[in-house]
Amino acid sequence: MSLQGKKIVLGITGSIAAYKAAVLIRLLIKKGAEVQVVITPAGKEFITPITLSALTSKPVISDFFAQRDGSWHSHVALGQWADAMLIAPATASTIGKMAHGVADNMLITTYLSMKAPVFVAPAMDLDMFAHPSTAANLNTLRSYGNYIIEPTEGELASHLVGKGRMEEPENIAEYLERYFSKSKELVGKKVVITAGPTYEKIDPVRFIGNYSSGKMGFALAEECAARGAEVTLVAGPVQLQTNHPNIRRINVESCAEMYAATTEAFKEAHAAILCAAVADFTPENTSDTKIKREADDLVLQLKPTQDIAAALGRMKQPHQCLVGFALETNDEVAHAQDKLQRKNLDFIVLNSLRDAGAGFRHDTNKITIISTTESKEYPLKTKSEVAKDIVDELSKRS
Ligand code: C5P
Repeated sequence: MSLQGKKIVLGITGSIAAYKAAVLIRLLIKKGAEVQVVITPAGKEFITPITLSALTSKPVISDFFAQRDGSWHSHVALGQWADAMLIAPATASTIGKMAHGVADNMLITTYLSMKAPVFVAPAMDLDMFAHPSTAANLNTLRSYGNYIIEPTEGELASHLVGKGRMEEPENIAEYLERYFSKSKELVGKKVVITAGPTYEKIDPVRFIGNYSSGKMGFALAEECAARGAEVTLVAGPVQLQTNHPNIRRINVESCAEMYAATTEAFKEAHAAILCAAVADFTPENTSDTKIKREADDLVLQLKPTQDIAAALGRMKQPHQCLVGFALETNDEVAHAQDKLQRKNLDFIVLNSLRDAGAGFRHDTNKITIISTTESKEYPLKTKSEVAKDIVDELSKRS
């Protein structure tokens, strides 16, 4: 991996973590990048422009005007020059200004003019990081497609311990390297992904649901998008954010809504990955009013839902690839093979609830990929690493 030839605008703001920017610059340059520093007025209180210009071999940009002769620094030119903008450290103030377009310094005007992807490494005290306004502003940046390099937990400059420490320069440099090293083999491909549980309504306050967190499906969406695919993510009710401009998210609740959104998107798609834990049954009747407690038993009549995977299997054209999931508790391989055939899938990803760390709510998963011709077992990995293995398999077939 390397950052050979990459032009990086490094934004530095007024946090004590600014002293780490010197190490970060050294690492980026060592990996082959060209670095242009843009620093806020408060940033200059923490690290001197002399240090930064000596490390980057470029004058540091801070003021709108270069000197009092009418020349100015062009944030528009910087926005077009860069392959990436990295703001490290990013204070709560800068994050707030970025979220709301408060363009009162050179760093923010550069951010607003930026054509390249933007990476933000927050650094602040734990209470500032935990404040709802910081969380809301970071979510706004995510919704703009910016990448947030999460701070870590540890001792802060205040000697308090908590989340707010800027990620270490080594890991920030690696984050950028990983971004640029992604192969773009799915450019021009449309992929539909279902994720999360479905809720089947019983009455206005109750539903039948399941423990699916959506983490696996969201990791798959991020991975496909990172490789250049245009992703439609049909998500059941989950507490997750999406972070990539290539991901179009459709929120649904019931199997019927997921069915409608997924079958529609599949018409135009090259592939579908059906990762959602869809309810197999739904109440025959939904009550418009809250069902009251009574002395007698309550009997809920359930009817089968539509099988989205099987429907796509029937619609599937020769150029389309269909991937399903099977979460099993017993006779895993036999059940997965049966589903592969029945739903006309190209391959199926099996995970067993018997494997520790696999399945619902975990951050890890242990899978076996089964097609009609082969079966490949993988070790326990994080869900984002598992997503890579699955998308590698998909890329071979798309
Ligand atoms: O038959 P089973 O529900 O175990 O099959 C799991 C696979 O089928 C998963 O890929 C799941 O997303 C998909 N499925 C579906 N629609 C349903 C039920 C399951 O797409 N109604």
